[in-house]
Amino acid sequence: MTDLPTLVFATQNQGKLEELKGLIAHKVHLVSLNELNFDEDIAETTGTLEGNAHQKASTIYKQFGKPCFSDDSGLFVNGLNGAPGVDSAHYSGSRDNEKNIALLLSNLSHFKDRSAYFKTVFCLIAHDNTYYFEGIIKGSIADRPRGNNGFGYDPIFIPEGYDQTFGELDKEIKKSLSHRARATQSLIEFLQKTDL
Ligand code: IMP
Repeated sequence: MTDLPTLVFATQNQGKLEELKGLIAHKVHLVSLNELNFDEDIAETTGTLEGNAHQKASTIYKQFGKPCFSDDSGLFVNGLNGAPGVDSAHYSGSRDNEKNIALLLSNLSHFKDRSAYFKTVFCLIAHDNTYYFEGIIKGSIADRPRGNNGFGYDPIFIPEGYDQTFGELDKEIKKSLSHRARATQSLIEFLQKTDL
């Protein structure tokens, strides 16, 4: 048993859960949806990262009444008016990364401006208060996929200050500067100074 306050991470993604556990285990007892025996798909239908993160966190908060947070991320390409954005996971109509990347490169092919950014939003609900934390990494879109590291759009995203894509860069570099890392840092700083 632990005396630490319980915090639910409303994600089905075991990798994300383990990553966060390593970072905040001293402050909260992080609980997964698995541990709550919750295996339903939660809707993500609001059209924004903030809305979707809130939708997931509030579904779990209402059901279990425990402090809870959720995340949502996406790639925003400025020349494409922010697409794929909140639709990043299924931009081409499927969850196939190669198809999503091919569609993005084709849609962007006539644009000079290849600037883009990844963004993560965390929504935390505790004692009926709602808090948001975000992390952004700016960069640009490569003209073709390069490298096999990471997932999603990593092979075409070149972070600002680097020449290589996230697909080519060392995993530790991405881990230290990614949108997710930055949002996580804000959440952790909040948890350090707040009693749940
Ligand atoms: P999620 O909300 O973290 O599941 O991210 C939604 C989608 O955004 C993913 O399925 C990916 O297509 C894309 N995405 C989010 N973060 C990253 C990243 O760090 N690298 C590449 N693609 C990402």
